[in-house]
Amino acid sequence: MFLSEGFIVIGSMRQKVMMRATSREMTRKDLPQVLAISRENMSAIIFSSWGVEYRDEDLLHILLEPAALNEVLELDGRIVAYFSIDDRNGNLFINSIQVHKACQGRGLGREMMARIEEHARERESPAIELLVQYTNRTAMEFYRRMGYRLVCRQGNNYLMRRTLDPDRRSRFIGLSGPGHMQDPQ
Ligand SMILES: CC(C)(COP(=O)(O)OP(=O)(O)OC[C@H]1O[C@@H](n2cnc3c(N)ncnc32)[C@H](O)[C@@H]1OP(=O)(O)O)[C@@H](O)C(=O)NCCC(=O)NCCS
Repeated sequence: MFLSEGFIVIGSMRQKVMMRATSREMTRKDLPQVLAISRENMSAIIFSSWGVEYRDEDLLHILLEPAALNEVLELDGRIVAYFSIDDRNGNLFINSIQVHKACQGRGLGREMMARIEEHARERESPAIELLVQYTNRTAMEFYRRMGYRLVCRQGNNYLMRRTLDPDRRSRFIGLSGPGHMQDPQ
């Protein structure tokens, strides 16, 4: 169970409360809510990065991949956040992480990153990686605060990485490629 700060409005009073969000594995019946959260968050970013319209099918493809592990955070029966991870090049890879617009900035993203790290450690992954659109400065700052560092640019995305076990070299291939910006090691 995750605790996060929120507000309730009673008459004209706005009171700070602790929200209790529970995490569980995503099921197919969650997909409409999950797609709506992502569409609302990402449409403008996808358009500014790639000049194309956001497509639900792209996220569905990621979520329905058999190797994907998908979890949601629920608050009062409503999905407020989710993430999707799998393994790539021997590292744990975050395919998607989203918090409902109304619940951003209350610690849910940080909680999900901690949960993702637990999964990475269970799998003995040496590092966690993700791609972020180059126009998504907000998310880049969030990841930077979570300990992720820029590795290289890939098209209109940046590859970011957090190394968990400094004794084991990341298995990412291509560090010496032309797009390489910074090896956090
Ligand atoms: C990015 C996102 C997942 C972060 O989740 P969140 O619940 O809003 O973030 P949190 O409240 O857990 O914040 C965690 C830390 O990041 C920082 N942070 C979050 N958003 C930030 C922002 N816009 N600018 C600067 N710092 C930010 C917080 O200050 C906090 O740091 P602190 O604990 O040191 O104070 C969420 O805002 C989101 O879904 N954004 C839209 C979708 C998106 O861009 N997803 C990523 C696609 S690559």
